[in-house]
Amino acid sequence: MNLAVMQGYRFQIVILLSHLTFHTSVRGDATESLHLLLQEFYDWRLEDSPEFATYSGTYRFNDRLQAFSLARMDERREIALSFKEDLERIEASELCKTERINYRILKDVLETYLGGYRWRRYGSINPLNFLEGIHVDPVHHVEATPFFTRGDYENFLVRLENTPLQLAEYQDLYRTAIGINHTMHNVSVSRVPAQIARLLVPPEESAFYEPFTDLLDQFPFSDNAKRDMRDRAHSLVQGVLEAFRDMKTFLETEYFPSTRQKWGVGSLEDGKNYYKACLRWHLSTDMSPETVHQIGLQEVERILGLMQEIVKKQNFNGSITEYFAFLRNDTSLHTDSAEELIEGYNRLINERINPKLQDVFNHLPDLPVKVEPMPYDGPAGEYQSGSEDGSRAGIFKVNVNRPHEIGKYIMMPVTLHESVPGHHLQISYALKANLPDFRRNTEYFRYYEVPYHFPFYTAYREGWALYAESLGEELNLYQNDYELMGRYSSEIFRACRLVVDTGLHYYGWNREEAIRYMLKYTSFSRAEMTTEIDRYITWPGQACAYKIGEIKIKELRKRAEDTLGDLFDIRDFHSVVLENGPMPLTILEEIVDDWIQNYRPATAEETCTDAAHTQHVSVVLLLCLTILGVCS
Ligand SMILES: *[C@@H]1O[C@H](CO)[C@@H](O)[C@H](O)[C@H]1NC(C)=O
Ligand SMILES: *[C@@H]1O[C@H](CO)[C@@H](O)[C@H](O)[C@H]1NC(C)=O
Ligand SMILES: *[C@@H]1O[C@H](CO)[C@@H](O)[C@H](O)[C@H]1NC(C)=O
Ligand SMILES: *[C@@H]1O[C@H](CO)[C@@H](O)[C@H](O)[C@H]1NC(C)=O
Repeated sequence: MNLAVMQGYRFQIVILLSHLTFHTSVRGDATESLHLLLQEFYDWRLEDSPEFATYSGTYRFNDRLQAFSLARMDERREIALSFKEDLERIEASELCKTERINYRILKDVLETYLGGYRWRRYGSINPLNFLEGIHVDPVHHVEATPFFTRGDYENFLVRLENTPLQLAEYQDLYRTAIGINHTMHNVSVSRVPAQIARLLVPPEESAFYEPFTDLLDQFPFSDNAKRDMRDRAHSLVQGVLEAFRDMKTFLETEYFPSTRQKWGVGSLEDGKNYYKACLRWHLSTDMSPETVHQIGLQEVERILGLMQEIVKKQNFNGSITEYFAFLRNDTSLHTDSAEELIEGYNRLINERINPKLQDVFNHLPDLPVKVEPMPYDGPAGEYQSGSEDGSRAGIFKVNVNRPHEIGKYIMMPVTLHESVPGHHLQISYALKANLPDFRRNTEYFRYYEVPYHFPFYTAYREGWALYAESLGEELNLYQNDYELMGRYSSEIFRACRLVVDTGLHYYGWNREEAIRYMLKYTSFSRAEMTTEIDRYITWPGQACAYKIGEIKIKELRKRAEDTLGDLFDIRDFHSVVLENGPMPLTILEEIVDDWIQNYRPATAEETCTDAAHTQHVSVVLLLCLTILGVCS
């Protein structure tokens, strides 16, 4: 694959695009120019990030892998700049309201990305950690690849061939990080060698070889062709595994000794500003670390008060920590087996939550969600989205590794957060919404690159999911004091994150202080909280998105309730938030304010449903298989 040629091609696209935009602007058709630009932008994003293209069901780049280098980062900036210039040539005042939102969001996407460029020599040059990378879940990587034709196999073989090059590019980035003292803390990478070691099996047993085993037998290719493919796959997989072994050695011998000494990124040169940029990226609103920290402390106090009331009501004489220790000790509050857990989660969704959703939602998208055991030992639950035509269900992955440790009382909040009405419902609305592709389908991985990464609007997504946990209270889904304690425990956990994330990265807290703070207020074990704190150390700012996003959604709802009084319909409010898809909190606020101003019950339709949108729906139907990993 000739990179130089590909880059030339990419610039050509951009030049051609500027040309088109210019022409249409001259004709005064701002809407048409905008549509062209949105499409060109999305096409470029898919081409530039081929794995993302595959995950979202666009298969024309299945033989490519994304390129990683500092030079490439510069080129991406140039391209993003030219998109921004083209966008600014469009006369926004000529656009109708719906199109103006598209305009504003694309502008935010580009400006956020360009603003992150300044920090490219921070997170972006430390590409693998214990939470992300193909070494964490190679099965997922392979499963997202289609295997329907000979071409699919050949494409995958090319990807295998180039994987060692990608890993070599990662090593170059890491070396840059070492050279300028911008490495991660050791806890972000210390588990990676063991994760890689799990991959180092004989090639024929590797997840990367899986498509060449039984699956290949089902194809009508000649025996010779199959043998040939298997031979090539075998040696290419061997090459991939060698490259991983090499990465493992590199980490252990070169990277580890150079890892960052201090826990938080605030200790790096200009690190406090870097942290502010990460925080801004995830929150999609301006909020200082001081404010985030204060909100955290206040929220912790407030929720603690609610918890203490329940504890008192139960005549328990002791602290919250002692109360949770007491709950952990009560076997009647715990499940016995993985089966019981899966069964329990299914019952919560089907028997308790689903029947109540109509009370608070309009036009519920009918996309299926499945409960499946998590293939590794992660958080209590995770969500992975399905395809928009429903052929592949969304997956609510639940941790069944230690059933005796999972309190039944935390199952309801976890379910509300990860499945319905949390991530699954939010993403289903976005997938079904009448929105341009770039708003429906965002690349939701590689958090380490933040803030030099296209925004996926963490605060909107995670804020919604935490808001979904609070909806459970209104819907009377927490049936007893234990479940209510589970709810508060889950909420205070997200409030604590505001305190410790800013604590670690801004106020110079050490890991032990952060762990102790978490243990004081939550029901989790020290082992769980250690992994949790290591996650915050690895992804500065990410953990603050949940509570800040939820507070904003609640604030907007309150404003709508106060202004509209008897006219307020919770279902309409939820539609406005969900049918517009992920976006910055600042724009969400404007949209909700505008909706309040112009509220007309039952006919709250936008005035501008134009031909381009109708046409868009048919394009959208062809897109399938969106895979998004979402953490709790
Ligand atoms: C990196 O840190 C080491 C040890 O603290 C120091 O000797 C070196 O000068 C630093 N290098 C740069 C480029 O700042
Ligand atoms: C980093 O972690 C690894 C694995 O736990 C350990 O062997 C190594 O000594 C650590 N290095 C530093 C610099 O802390
Ligand atoms: C609660 O415990 C403390 C000491 O552990 C004891 O002094 C006190 O009397 C207890 N209160 C009740 C109401 O049991
Ligand atoms: C847990 O149960 C054991 C055995 O019943 C008991 O000795 C211990 O005090 C209990 N711990 C708590 C925190 O309730």
